[in-house]
Amino acid sequence: MSESSASGVWFAPGRVNLIGEHTDYNDGFVLPFALPRRAVVTAGPAAGPRSRVRSAQQDAPVEFTAATVRPGDVPGWAAYVAGTVWAFREAGYPVSELDLELDSDVPVGAGLSSSAAVECAVGVALAGMSGVDVGPTGLARIARRAENEFVGAPTGGMDQMAAMHGRAGQLVFLDTRDDTVELVPFDLAAHGLDLLVIDTRAPHSHADGEYGARRADCERAAAALGVPALRDAGLPEVETLTDDRIRRRARHVVTENDRVRAVVELLRSGADPREIGPLLDASHVSMRDDFEITVPHVDVAVESARAGGAVGARMTGGGFGGCVIALCETGAAAAVAGAVEKAYAGHGWEPPVVFPGIPSDGAGRLT
Ligand code: GLA
Repeated sequence: MSESSASGVWFAPGRVNLIGEHTDYNDGFVLPFALPRRAVVTAGPAAGPRSRVRSAQQDAPVEFTAATVRPGDVPGWAAYVAGTVWAFREAGYPVSELDLELDSDVPVGAGLSSSAAVECAVGVALAGMSGVDVGPTGLARIARRAENEFVGAPTGGMDQMAAMHGRAGQLVFLDTRDDTVELVPFDLAAHGLDLLVIDTRAPHSHADGEYGARRADCERAAAALGVPALRDAGLPEVETLTDDRIRRRARHVVTENDRVRAVVELLRSGADPREIGPLLDASHVSMRDDFEITVPHVDVAVESARAGGAVGARMTGGGFGGCVIALCETGAAAAVAGAVEKAYAGHGWEPPVVFPGIPSDGAGRLT
């Protein structure tokens, strides 16, 4: 393969999760979709002896050696890139030294999986450059390994699977126990509906430690119930747990799995998508009261969106800030956004950033 044919431009998107929060590390169900916001990687063989990555969002380039890089070698933003190179190599695929240019319009820290977008964009670039067929699930697992073992964030696999498997007009119904994917059509426009993404821009404080704490609580609950994962538990057993906090954490996961399946059933059966509204609302209440991962900016956005006419609204993503989604009549979208903006102004908060959530294609090659 000549140098020029090995060069190219690849992308992977951020994601919004329609429903199924903190279920992915409990072997449960999630229902995300890929956004039209993307990380784009221009990649080619290295000009020098080492690999070099430059980001349009960062001042200085970072160098590393693809042949030997290991966890701990590369800190900061470039860890997502070097980590994916490491995980790709660890999976047994060939890597050579490369030059990468990275650009992304996925907002960082908004709970839209900007990091998975970078990992997956680098993953498709590596597969494309080396001419190996890893497949979307294989690349998602490599990208997740980079996140977990190189970056050190103890996440589940939803974000990378959404970035790899997303399709325009479709939701990605994922069973995280075996990574089975079913695409579920989600044509809101045909029903006169919009899904607004409301970036609360709330400060993302303590998110990392709290995420790990929730994971640990779920593992404690599964151990107390004697099941491999909370996916295997039912609500009646969960209600017997004596520790109040652990019981509420487990109740969120078990009821959230049920809500994901109920949403999928409704959409598969061709029901009016408005019928998922109460399930979105119930998911938010469960995250607020049982899983305790919301913050005032998020709760106010959900409450004001509902008061402004949304059919259903919930926080999306890991929590402690980030984005809210609001399902609304197309004709009411401006009023819903306006209601949230007004509520924020009333609290003296920075205005939220509101944009349409449109299910879009997953990772691929641009040129
Ligand atoms: C983050 C993680 C995902 C998932 C969500 C919560 O986005 O990266 O794996 O756990 O939080 O649903």
